[in-house]
Amino acid sequence: MNPVDADKRFATRAVVSGNQHIEGAVNTPIFQSSTYQLTDERYQGWANGAQHTLLYARLSSLNSEAVVEKLCALEDAEDGELFGSGMAAISTTLMGLLSAGDHMVASADCYGGTYGLMTEDLPRFGIEISMADMTDPASYEAAIQDNTKIIYIEVLTNPVLKVCDIEAMVAIGKKHGLIVIVDNTFATPWACKPLAMGCDLVIHSCTKYLNGHSDVVAGAILGRADLVAEIFPRKVHFGGAVDPHACYLLERGIRTLHARMPIHVSNSLEIATRLEDHPMIESVNHPSLASHPQHDVAQRIIPKGTGMCSFVVKGGDGAALKFMRSLNIIFEATSLGCIRSLVECPSNSSHSFVPEEVRSEAGVVPGFVRMSIGIEDLEDIWEDIDQALAQVEAELLRLA
Ligand SMILES: Cc1ncc(COP(=O)(O)O)c(C=O)c1O
Repeated sequence: MNPVDADKRFATRAVVSGNQHIEGAVNTPIFQSSTYQLTDERYQGWANGAQHTLLYARLSSLNSEAVVEKLCALEDAEDGELFGSGMAAISTTLMGLLSAGDHMVASADCYGGTYGLMTEDLPRFGIEISMADMTDPASYEAAIQDNTKIIYIEVLTNPVLKVCDIEAMVAIGKKHGLIVIVDNTFATPWACKPLAMGCDLVIHSCTKYLNGHSDVVAGAILGRADLVAEIFPRKVHFGGAVDPHACYLLERGIRTLHARMPIHVSNSLEIATRLEDHPMIESVNHPSLASHPQHDVAQRIIPKGTGMCSFVVKGGDGAALKFMRSLNIIFEATSLGCIRSLVECPSNSSHSFVPEEVRSEAGVVPGFVRMSIGIEDLEDIWEDIDQALAQVEAELLRLA
């Protein structure tokens, strides 16, 4: 983190940190340049490993540097790197830190793309993965082998919203000398600070809440400077860079993170509370509800709550589809963290490539719906849900 940010509070860091006031511009201008003039200083930076030296936009750009500085300020990170997607950040990190013969403990109950990487790609390079239960730190410890290098977790599992006891995972990581990596996409640094809890690296799909407007795909890693430096050459070789224009939009989006999140969170909790009482709803997953099996862990790890919510519509997948197609304001699309409410059935979208038995083991049963609650008016969101559920009920009655 830039030392000038150390005495600023979160909202000020979100708005101010990283901004490059070129020619007195209040916002970092878009530097749409793939390459930079080679000067003695830049040759020196190249000789020192090239990280954060403006040489060529696959390595970094003025706009990506501005975003990295802002994100380091928000996550209290020593250093960071930006990527062209969350998956580029995850794959480059894991391929950067693991070699053939290494082992990692992770969970099958995670983002579908990460699951695919861990089950289809990493094993092809001789990297061994054991799947444990993210809600049971003891299962992670039991899976540790002599060649284990990494513990990989998500703050909230996707899409079932189980909560990971990060502090317990860090204690296990420290005891066994392992690197602890956490995907903080669902929580954001506004709600959870994994580095302050002792994690080594945080990963983000910036595509989601950080950007907040569903108009950018990007990813980031933040944390220990030595690990980021170890991963950087793989970013250079694998090429998962992000375009300056996307960086500009991302920087603009992050500036309002602290203003958007409280609305996402309060809307989501209120919707989850009302859904719990709705006759067409089988069950609701929301970590801030007292009914959540890990409510006490959630109060410690993510006390501010989340904008996400998932639930099971009575009547199975057909009813869930009818529900989504009957919505007018809430938009049927994969992804999350947008100011607009988004809804999906993970079984036919974000998690479609996760085997059915793995999905149902995690709790993705027929009728399962994941909703990212936006910042629209709460009553309009609720009325939309209520009328769509009424249409599902009418359809089920018609078919009965
Ligand atoms: C928790 C989580 N991590 C990582 C990713 C991958 O991010 P991206 O789509 O930006 O590659 C996603 C995407 O949905 C996600 O939900």
